[in-house]
Amino acid sequence: MAKGITVVGCGPGAQDLITLRGRKAIDGANLIIGSPRLLADFTEGCRGEKLSIEGNYREIMGSLEERAQGKKVVILASGDPMLHSFGVVVAKRFGREAEYIPGVSSVQYAFTKIARGWDGYRIFSLHGGTGLDVKKVFRENDRIVILLDPKYNLKYLRQELDGESLTGFTFYIASNLSLEDEDCIELGFEEFGTYKEESLSILIVRKEIVHG
Ligand SMILES: C[S@@+](CC[C@H](N)C(=O)[O-])C[C@H]1O[C@@H](n2cnc3c(N)ncnc32)[C@H](O)[C@@H]1O
Repeated sequence: MAKGITVVGCGPGAQDLITLRGRKAIDGANLIIGSPRLLADFTEGCRGEKLSIEGNYREIMGSLEERAQGKKVVILASGDPMLHSFGVVVAKRFGREAEYIPGVSSVQYAFTKIARGWDGYRIFSLHGGTGLDVKKVFRENDRIVILLDPKYNLKYLRQELDGESLTGFTFYIASNLSLEDEDCIELGFEEFGTYKEESLSILIVRKEIVHG
């Protein structure tokens, strides 16, 4: 690609869930940029220089074009790069001049764990504090996925939805998907305050449609 920038979706975490194309791009890169977790898990034995994203995100994004001069730069993204992720940020700046390699999203993976289809679901994110109007989301949708984070978690949702009528809703929490301590269970709204929080988790919400 013209810019020499490729965003690789690494999948939900397990090393055997990255695509062959993504693996090849990482192995052939001169510079690999990513979170400490993704660098540790997906760059072992790679010859490329590694650059960790830890609070220096703006600086890295600002200097990306310069860093890519005459080099193959790979940016690692968790899950799929075009879902609430780096790929979208890079695409806003470089459009089709950069390359994007898809990955298995945590959302896709979670639905395989609960053995249900994910067509008809709307995907929202609270990751990093997005200002999402949670009450409105629950009032207007009956198939919902919400990406959570350590601060905007189930306890936060419990507070935000206090007093709402949630009759007929089924909830699944999916944490650390594809990793050693993976957990994916159905739980009641009253358990939102006591569920052990994980840094990587998503909530799936389904409201049974009653046909009258
Ligand atoms: C910045 S978003 C990236 C989403 C990603 N692009 C995807 O397709 O899954 C980060 C959020 O994705 C979710 N996530 C990513 N990997 C996960 C995993 N292995 N297990 C559970 N949730 C995960 C969590 O909600 C996390 O806070």
